[in-house]
Amino acid sequence: MPASNYLDIPDPHLDPVVAANYDDPADERFSASAVGAAVSLLSDLANGGPAVEFAVGTGRLALPLAEAGVRVHGIDFSEAMLAELQKKENAQSISVTVGDMTETQVCDDATLVYLVYNTIMNLRTQHQQVACFRNAAAHLAPGGCFVIENMIPQLHRLAPGETILPFDVSPHHLGFEEHPDPVNQISISHHVHIDGDRVRTTAPAFRYVWPSELDLMAQLAGMTLEARWADWLRTPMTGGSQSHVSVWRKA
Ligand SMILES: C[S@@+](CC[C@H](N)C(=O)[O-])C[C@H]1O[C@@H](n2cnc3c(N)ncnc32)[C@H](O)[C@@H]1O
Repeated sequence: MPASNYLDIPDPHLDPVVAANYDDPADERFSASAVGAAVSLLSDLANGGPAVEFAVGTGRLALPLAEAGVRVHGIDFSEAMLAELQKKENAQSISVTVGDMTETQVCDDATLVYLVYNTIMNLRTQHQQVACFRNAAAHLAPGGCFVIENMIPQLHRLAPGETILPFDVSPHHLGFEEHPDPVNQISISHHVHIDGDRVRTTAPAFRYVWPSELDLMAQLAGMTLEARWADWLRTPMTGGSQSHVSVWRKA
């Protein structure tokens, strides 16, 4: 497939069926411990000021962060995901805007902007990812910080000549990452969700990105790396870490 065609694959979260099935209590990311660890670090970094979540989705982190006393504004381009958020009991505790995180600006005095769950990779060109960093910086007051949680690309695990890696083989979910276009850093996540005799599939496209490239994007947007951990518990990163939580601060 030519690189430009990957850009035409719609983001699955725009689909109301995907949005309705997004919250998954069996997924570790929805566990109280995972959410609690992220909220604790984000709350510390907000430091009493307002926060903006890019790609807020159904409010997995934004709602508990607001409960922890942080003023949160969420941006997402999926009306379906925001509709799921609005169904939740404490939805009114945050404000939301339908918009694209590469260009929609809702304030300029945030102490924290954050983008989690590998969602920088939903932007499928370097140009869009750079625009996202610039937009984060535009939201921040001087001294504010931008936080990204993202996976470390696992291409080194591919055997020579292979393009597909399994990332989850469990009773209710099969996941395979395909790497069809290393030049444009495109991957396709093939998901098969199994619920009894019902099967649902999605195959979103991503642009994977290494931490070093994100640091350059931050530099272009006037921000400097302050911290990088393997996870929300501030575990030190090693060569074997499969994800990172990075913090860049605006001058
Ligand atoms: C994996 S979900 C993450 C949702 C939430 N942040 C969480 O941690 O559960 C990705 C979200 O990114 C949103 N998204 C993708 N591209 C976007 C863009 N360019 N602008 C705004 N939202 C976007 C999708 O609609 C979806 O809600």
